[in-house]
Amino acid sequence: IMPEDSSHKYTMVTCTAPVNIAVIKYWGKRDEDLILPVNSSLSVTLHQDQLKTTTTVACCRDFVEDRLWLNGKEEDINQPRLQSCLREIRRLARKRRSDKDSTVDVSGLSYKVHICSNNNFPTAAGLASSAAGYACLVYTLARLFGVEGELSCVARQGSGSACRSMYGGFVQWKMGEREDGKDSLADQVEPETHWPELRVLVLVVSAERKPVGSTSGMQTSVETSSLLKYRADSVVPGRMDEMTSAIRRKDFAAFAELTMKDSNQFHATCLDTYPPIFYLNDVSRRVINLVHRYNRHYGETRVAYTFDAGPNAVIYTLQDHVSEFVQVVCHFFPMESNRGKFLQGLPVASTTVSDELKNAIGMEPVSNGISYIISTKAGPGPRVEEDPSLHLLDSDGLPK
Ligand code: DP6
Repeated sequence: IMPEDSSHKYTMVTCTAPVNIAVIKYWGKRDEDLILPVNSSLSVTLHQDQLKTTTTVACCRDFVEDRLWLNGKEEDINQPRLQSCLREIRRLARKRRSDKDSTVDVSGLSYKVHICSNNNFPTAAGLASSAAGYACLVYTLARLFGVEGELSCVARQGSGSACRSMYGGFVQWKMGEREDGKDSLADQVEPETHWPELRVLVLVVSAERKPVGSTSGMQTSVETSSLLKYRADSVVPGRMDEMTSAIRRKDFAAFAELTMKDSNQFHATCLDTYPPIFYLNDVSRRVINLVHRYNRHYGETRVAYTFDAGPNAVIYTLQDHVSEFVQVVCHFFPMESNRGKFLQGLPVASTTVSDELKNAIGMEPVSNGISYIISTKAGPGPRVEEDPSLHLLDSDGLPK
């Protein structure tokens, strides 16, 4: 928190928050306003060195209205989900202050806020940025207003998957049973240090158009898909236990198989939706085939894929297999235009792919299907940025 400035009397906080990728998918709400899911879910928080949102919030007596800038552009602050998060944090702050000391000054809570948020990855990549975005907003507001403790239920009200970005490592979102949603919370299953060999590759697939958004997509699924109901009632509860146990044991084969099956069932649910929703494209399906043929060649599950509400593939594998699998992807999805920038993030050693492996996979290479790869791993939860030079707002409260 910045000290007060004599002319403006503002406080400013900057924080960062991570992206997460579910291995047991959240799809379907039982309450649209509170964002309560029909099933529990489990994700891996990705490292912020590669993918993160940074948010600065300033509050000042002189601000005349709440304002928001996303990736350099001013946006409407009156979106209901944004308002829910602001309202909830202010409510918690008031409660906390009156619990602690009734004489405490709560006037700062009525000051307007300026919010500025950026991603360190292109929004055009179609990576789920709402999870990191809302997690970061809630975490930063909480710091600014001195709110501590359980915040995942606030982030959840911005975007369901955002509640899982409030923690690092392996995170579950327990669906809860209560109607008020107070028990629909995220918690950490294992920290990011638990499984250091686990690696993640985001294969950014070049898409022709923007797919159906998660919010409206899952709404239609809840209304029309009987597979969704079966999945939520009879499949996910068992899978949550199996997945937790696979992670605790660091059993990659079990983790990988469940991850792929759950992604496939989520996309089957989309196909079972009426009218059907297609998130996977030809490139996505080629990645699926490639992974299965690769694993079959070795007679062991070394690589897993998962897909969210878009065509990008997220690959989970172990350190020992990363470099070969990256080479395999480069061979079967040659990228002519931006060579050199094809691989971003954590360095990957270069190796050659044997002809035997290429033949075993036996697919025709297709150019330009994948625009680039981001190599990363599991990482920590939201953080306060202590360096004031990294604030996204200037001392006048406007974006730098
Ligand atoms: C396919 O969290 O984006 O990525 O709660 O409506 O904001 P809202 O949806 P959102 O849905 C994410 C769906 C998913 C699966 C997952 O992350 O678990």
